[in-house]
Amino acid sequence: MHKLLYLLMLAVVLYGIWNSMHKNSSRNPKEHTQNCQVCRIEADQEENLRAELARIETPEYILHYIVDVIDHGSDTLGFKGGVMEGGYVSHEDAEKIACYVLEMSGKKCPYPYPKDAAMFYTSVCGGCHGNDGKGLGGNYPDLTRKKLLGIERREEFLKRRLRELRRRSAHEGR
Ligand code: HEC
Repeated sequence: MHKLLYLLMLAVVLYGIWNSMHKNSSRNPKEHTQNCQVCRIEADQEENLRAELARIETPEYILHYIVDVIDHGSDTLGFKGGVMEGGYVSHEDAEKIACYVLEMSGKKCPYPYPKDAAMFYTSVCGGCHGNDGKGLGGNYPDLTRKKLLGIERREEFLKRRLRELRRRSAHEGR
């Protein structure tokens, strides 16, 4: 009997919490748009997401990503080979190696780069990613993929976030 009473009280409390949350999220849309800092921030966010998505396939974006991985490492992709440390080479060398890596997937580096990039790649990166860039049978990321995994994941994240923002603004009548 006590148990039943307890459950009943719990249900009442939970309903109270749910109800207050629900009320909060269904604010008057008109009042919401009038002086809404959150809406402006979200509109800016949406614009930034769109701008990044528009650039995501460009050689400049991809080069920036590769240089960033060479400089700072990578630890989110989950490969058998473990994580990649940053700083195997200087930032200047990273830029030319990045061009070489970009061209492994059939794209064209937008600026000329020294031919010794290939030698740098083979001696510093090839041990893990393979001299052909294919990642030694799946133990390391395949650098010859049409879209690098990190970029593919970023694109998915950006699209998901954009959908979320759109859904929210539709719900609030903006
Ligand atoms: C000791 C092994 C090792 C070396 C050396 C190494 N990497 Fe990596 N690299 C990895 C691993 C492991 C990952 C994935 C890490 C993770 O889980 O995020 C990775 C990730 C990457 C990625 C991201 C791949 C993607 O699909 O998004 C790039 C680009 C990359 N490495 C380029 C290089 C370049 C260029 C060099 C040489 C300067 C290099 N790596 C040297 C092991 C290595």
